[in-house]
Amino acid sequence: MKILKKISLCLLTVTIGTSLSACNYNNNGTNKDSIKNIKIGVTLYRQDDAFISAITKELEDVAKEKEGDSNYKITINVVDAKGSLTNQNSQVERFVSQNYDVICVNIVDRTAASMMIDKAKSANIPMIFFNREPVEEDMERWDKLYYVGAKAEQSGEIQGKIILDAYKSNRSLVDKNGDGKIQYVVLEGEPGHQDTLIRTEHCIKPLIENGIELEKLSDEIGNWQYAQATTKMNQWIKEFGDKIEVVFSNNDEMALGALEALNNDNTIKRHPLVVGIDGIPESLTQVKNGAMIGTAINDYKYQAKVIFNMAYLLSTNGDISSVEGLEKGKYVMADYSEVTKDNVDIYMKSK
Ligand code: GAL
Ligand code: CA
Repeated sequence: MKILKKISLCLLTVTIGTSLSACNYNNNGTNKDSIKNIKIGVTLYRQDDAFISAITKELEDVAKEKEGDSNYKITINVVDAKGSLTNQNSQVERFVSQNYDVICVNIVDRTAASMMIDKAKSANIPMIFFNREPVEEDMERWDKLYYVGAKAEQSGEIQGKIILDAYKSNRSLVDKNGDGKIQYVVLEGEPGHQDTLIRTEHCIKPLIENGIELEKLSDEIGNWQYAQATTKMNQWIKEFGDKIEVVFSNNDEMALGALEALNNDNTIKRHPLVVGIDGIPESLTQVKNGAMIGTAINDYKYQAKVIFNMAYLLSTNGDISSVEGLEKGKYVMADYSEVTKDNVDIYMKSK
């Protein structure tokens, strides 16, 4: 009797097993069993940052495209730290406890990566930092930490070159008061951000190297933000008026904010030249219509692609050596491109 029971149970299991596996095929004949989930967690320092939202959207698009022609279901879960490191640490903790395959971090405070790194490391989940570069000491904490960013020196130098070229082609276009010096102001991003420090240092280099005298009237923090830049520019207009010849802005959002102040002003006879960085769509329009003299494209499409490729490889075979441009086994740094009225059409088309 007992034996009979066992046999019938066994048969039942086999029947269920067979019918289950019969459903395990998709319409196209691929085995559902081979479809693995890839879970990628992404935490942003601020989702309302124009450049960051551009890179994030691209990341989601690339993932969707890849999912279509792979045997993986790819989930990208994007969360906003809203400028708070505490929020971000708990978001990373949640990704860890939910067993994500890779965690991508656009870190709020680049000097404070250690806690989240230790969390991810203890669960053996690789981390890809992007756009906001953790200090080297933290990047050395583990061999599954990566960084995707862009060569900040280049972006500053492109700004300087744009102004240099304008000066060379027609001095009076830049040196409005004809005193042989360029009077300039700088709108700076967040203090301590690698791009703020490096862009500010490098934007004047091409001019200095060409023996052009410069006079810095002022520099102010605008935290990458449009509204803060409008406020600063309004103050400068009051303080310096027509004296300002160039506005170097650490990014486009602030350049656009400065333009708003300039457009609403009727005390300045000739506007200063405004140059930005990022190449967001609105700034390309302003370059096209001549309100901005130029910008440097911060290639978010490329950076998003690299972040995704890395995340995908880390979640599948774990080997990222095929990633192009990988330096020291962990860094990928994108090139910037110069944009002025002369070539802006190319970039407007590709947006
Ligand atoms: C910079 C970018 C800025 C801002 C910042 C945020 O690379 O130029 O516009 O997005 O990153 O970290
Ligand atoms: Ca001058």
